[in-house]
Amino acid sequence: MNLYQDIKPLQSHLQAKRRQNLRIGFVPTMGALHAGHLSLIDAAKEKCDIVACSIFVNPTQFNNLLDLELYPRNIENDIRLLVQSGCYILFHPTIEEMYGSDFHKDSAAVYGPYINLLEGAHRPGHFDGVITIVKRLFEIIEPDEVFFGQKDYQQCLVIKTLLERNFTNIVFNRCAIKRETDGLAMSSRNVKLNKEERIAASLLIQALNHIKANWNAETWETSIAEAKKMIAHNKHLQLEYLCVTDPDNLTELSAFNMNAIALIAAYCGQTRLIDNLLLN
Ligand code: PAJ
Repeated sequence: MNLYQDIKPLQSHLQAKRRQNLRIGFVPTMGALHAGHLSLIDAAKEKCDIVACSIFVNPTQFNNLLDLELYPRNIENDIRLLVQSGCYILFHPTIEEMYGSDFHKDSAAVYGPYINLLEGAHRPGHFDGVITIVKRLFEIIEPDEVFFGQKDYQQCLVIKTLLERNFTNIVFNRCAIKRETDGLAMSSRNVKLNKEERIAASLLIQALNHIKANWNAETWETSIAEAKKMIAHNKHLQLEYLCVTDPDNLTELSAFNMNAIALIAAYCGQTRLIDNLLLN
């Protein structure tokens, strides 16, 4: 695997590959890699000739300084996993390389009406930071295809809109959520859960599954209320939101519709977890 911290040599290597007509797949991450991230690398390998991955814990998308400081980092292990997975290039820039001394954030407001809902409402400025860094990464890498996880469903919508507006040549791929055996969505943050919290964390997917199992015109509303109670009754969990929305624009359903998605965010102890499930 070829590792780059600096933009210029990375770009000349990618340019040489492009001249050989090789298609470049790109997987942006913040590291602390797990099987969910690696499934994106696999998907990219299947559709493209070479895969570039980035690891950069992006300070501007954290709305909470402590969360940024405590974000898990394990670059040696990440490199080992990426080598095993057949990733071709790792871009692991410093903060100075990506931002210089300019921490200016682009505004995400133009990338869809749903920017201020759900994650946007609970993490002010989060999508401004995501858009800023993803745009820079796309400009640097100039990939043919990009691979994002459904785990961050709202992020997928925002990035799709970014591509439609600014990068019409790049193909967007949304990859399925990788889960632990009890259904918990894999996340870099899961390592922070203690034993009791880890058990409680699986209630998130159980609540979403409860809604999906009762997704019909008669029981849809009661099942959402019951799912909220499942979370509320556990002392380790603090619900931020559990909503059922239109999958395209994230507006909450006011009437039953088969085409819907349930999204949840909750604190499990000090750790914030998110998950979602398409209901159709
Ligand atoms: P990060 O949280 O590291 O996630 C990187 C990619 O992995 C995202 O597309 C995310 O949706 C995907 N992912 C995470 N958990 C997954 C799982 N269990 N199954 C499948 N895919 C999963 O998302 C970010 O980083 C950042 O916001 C980033 C896009 C890199 C911008 O900084």
